[in-house]
Amino acid sequence: MAQGFSPAFPGMIGEGNLEVHTMNDVLDFINTNRDRYVEELKQFLAIPSISAMPEHQTDVRRCAEWTAAEMSRIGLENVRVIDTAGHPLVYGDWLHAEGKPTVLFYGHYDVQPVDPVDLWQSPPFEATVRDGEIYARGASDDKGQVFVHFKAIEAHITKSGRLPVNFKVILEGEEEVGSVNLGPYVKAHAADLASDMVLISDTEMFDRGVPSLCYGLRGLVYMQIDMRGTKGDLHSGSYGGVVANPANVMAQVLAQLKDRSGTVKIPGFYDAVRALRDEERAEFRRLPFNEVSVKKYLGAPRLFGERGYSVLERMWARPTLDVNGMVAGWTGEGSKTVIPATAMAKVSMRIVPNQDPVAIAELFEAYVKKITPKTVDLKITRMHGAMPWMTDFDNIYVQAAGRAIEKGFGKRPVFTREGGSIPVVATFQEALNVPCVLFGFGLPDDNLHAPNEKFNLDNFFQGILASAFLYQEVAGIKG
Ligand code: BES
Ligand code: ZN
Repeated sequence: MAQGFSPAFPGMIGEGNLEVHTMNDVLDFINTNRDRYVEELKQFLAIPSISAMPEHQTDVRRCAEWTAAEMSRIGLENVRVIDTAGHPLVYGDWLHAEGKPTVLFYGHYDVQPVDPVDLWQSPPFEATVRDGEIYARGASDDKGQVFVHFKAIEAHITKSGRLPVNFKVILEGEEEVGSVNLGPYVKAHAADLASDMVLISDTEMFDRGVPSLCYGLRGLVYMQIDMRGTKGDLHSGSYGGVVANPANVMAQVLAQLKDRSGTVKIPGFYDAVRALRDEERAEFRRLPFNEVSVKKYLGAPRLFGERGYSVLERMWARPTLDVNGMVAGWTGEGSKTVIPATAMAKVSMRIVPNQDPVAIAELFEAYVKKITPKTVDLKITRMHGAMPWMTDFDNIYVQAAGRAIEKGFGKRPVFTREGGSIPVVATFQEALNVPCVLFGFGLPDDNLHAPNEKFNLDNFFQGILASAFLYQEVAGIKG
């Protein structure tokens, strides 16, 4: 596994490369079409495809249809919008590169909600360029990164009438809500999605000017806890001291999930965690990471996390637990003397190899049941989950991606892991038995899921170049 920075990428493999002059035409086309790309991306970003909000359901579908039309326009074939029990998938392919490998590209066209909307400097669905960054919800996660590939595909097909490799595209509208319908679809349609590699651009570069390939993702277990103390709210004077207050009980329970040094207290939680190898810790230490500037960027008085591990280790290779939200009782202005009838909290855990989401959900439930007093009724709901994922990065497709990045960005990539999750990656690897290449162009300060999400336009253009090179590099690998 991970030998850190890749050894020298083998040189270009001659067989299967486009004629040099054609590749130059492709690159020229990309360089001369930049303004148009930005204008088109703005249209994609204008559609509020918020998968989590039922009131945006028609927008999500409209976005799927817009995406499908764009895929046909750039020359993909067999394009269709596929209905699921939730939001639709979009599929398209181009399969005329006989004897060449097949790339399956995956991305998501859904986005996160925009609240708190008043903190946006420009409206979230009116993409605005400021200082070389395009600001909009979905700019980096993931519409901008999907668009990178649309434009690389368009450039190849426009200039040479073909792609260097066979290509299948599958996009979903439910990544931000746990990919609940795509997972089963991939398993049921593994033959249709058969390919030699899965290509994904939904991750970040290590830093500005530090292009990266990502070889590991954390998984996720998301839970909701509901407590009820009484059948209705009570006057806290009349009944205070007579019944348990679910808000107090919830606070006590949540406080017992982690200790003061950041260690999760659920018995068995760490049992399956694969320990970090010394070599990998050493590789992490070699990355150009500056703790002081991260602290400043985050505006945190101090960084905090599990004792005994560096920030990168905690972010990428250690599991953790967070309360994502809680409500109980009076939260409006002023005061109200009330004992609330109910309390609710959302808690999620980021997990790492070899933790299993179902096993962790069971441990969580057993522990919360044990520490919750009988004075309240307790309900625990499993929301969605994601398997953690990790790959070897010495496989030939990852190596090809490394060469493509070097050509597109003028720099060799570093190898990173991510703290975030992409639920379907482990499913692809397992159901299709092919390597996944995480070829991401976001930045750590892109404000994913937050106000003022943005995508750096240099990364956008260099990402298009790197993608155009990647297809050509992969063509040199025997299919
Ligand atoms: N693009 C992100 C994954 C990501 C996050 C990559 C941070 C790099 C850094 C993806 O769209 C995402 O947000 N995934 C969700 C999945 C969850 C809802 C199952 C996540 O990680 O919270
Ligand atoms: Zn996201």
